[in-house]
Parts: sequence; C-alpha cells; structure tokens
Amino acid sequence: MKIGNIEIQIKKGDITEEKVDAIVNAANNSLLGGGGVDGAIHRKGGPRILEQCIKHRGCPTGEARITTAGDLPCRYVIHTVGPIYGNNNGMDEILLFNAYFNSLKLAQEYGIKTISFPSISIGAYSYPIHDAVKIVYNAIKEFSKTNEIIEEINLVLYSDENHQIYRDFFDKLPQN
Ligand code: APR
Repeated sequence: MKIGNIEIQIKKGDITEEKVDAIVNAANNSLLGGGGVDGAIHRKGGPRILEQCIKHRGCPTGEARITTAGDLPCRYVIHTVGPIYGNNNGMDEILLFNAYFNSLKLAQEYGIKTISFPSISIGAYSYPIHDAVKIVYNAIKEFSKTNEIIEEINLVLYSDENHQIYRDFFDKLPQN
C-alpha cells in the first residue's frame, strides 16, 4: 500500500535481517544498549555501533540519532527513543509521533530511500499497540507531505499477533 509517495510494507520478522538503507532502533535515552530490539541490534551489529552511540551522548525521547550499522546487512541504524507509556504528562502520543517523524526526517537528510521500523515503545515501554499503530500511520502520513527521498518504509513486527494487528489496521485504510 502507499501513504502519499511512500510504499509501505507490513512484515513479520527480525529487523536485524532487513537489507535496507537503514533500520530504526527502539533505544533508550542513554543510547548505551538494552534488551529487545536494542539488544539484538547491538549484539548482531557489533561494537562499532556502540562506539558511535557513545559520541552522541544520549538522545532525548522523541528525537533520533544515526550511526553505522556495523556488521548488520543495512547501511545505517537510526536510534530513536519512544515514550515509556504513561510517564510523560499526557505527551505520550506526541513523543511517539516525534520518534517516527524525526527518524524519517533524519533518514531523508542522509539520502536514505528504504527504511525499516520496529514497533517502537510497545515492548518494554508498554505502549498499547492499538493506540501506537494509529500514531505510526499519522507520523508517516504527515512526513509524506514533504517527502522527496524516501521510497519505501517497512514496518517489521516480531510476533504473529502484532503483525496481524498492524495488518488489520492498515488494510482498513482508504487506498490513495
Ligand atoms: N526485530 C523486530 N522487532 C523486535 C525484535 C527484532 N529483532 N526484537 C524485539 N522486537 C519487538 C518487540 O517484540 C516489541 O514488539 O520490538 C517491539 C519493541 O519492543 P522493545 O525492544 O522492548 O522496545 P521498547 O518498547 O521501545 O522499549 C525500549 O527496551 O530494550 C530496551 O534499551 C531499550 O530501554 C529501551 C526499551
């Protein structure tokens, strides 16, 4: 399906195996690694990713930072920090929107044409997936209005259940 001028794929799989220009990491404010997607990316990508993360000296929630992809089959990792659900004085939605939007903005600045996202904040950060998926759509739709570079966005889900939830939502959208 398309959102504006961007081809959208909803996929089930392991984001560390994506052969795209960039994958997005669901990081924390320290950018020093963790579990979940963050752990998988650092484990498989190797120490060069962390070396560059350290130079960024952290990342505020909703913002994005870019590093090498190290040993991963993509070129870049864009690290973004989603909100911990319920911890942000009612700003959860805006912060999750910003995490996607700012990752896309940074990707465009680096001439990235294909990019894969995990489902940010819906794991350890407990964001309800049915609420999060609407925000993912809104952020991509808003970004597409000024997009000139990105051609394809893959939304990569790790479980059948989450994959089905995303697919059900996107399949119901009016096709443009
Ligand atoms: N590929 C794709 N998706 C994955 C992968 C993977 N290899 N591993 C996990 N996921 C899924 C999880 O199942 C979840 O649905 O990514 C989603 C996001 O979960 P988390 O990785 O827990 O990310 P988040 O909820 O944003 O929490 C971030 O967790 O790992 C720490 O350092 C990280 O503190 C930060 C927090």
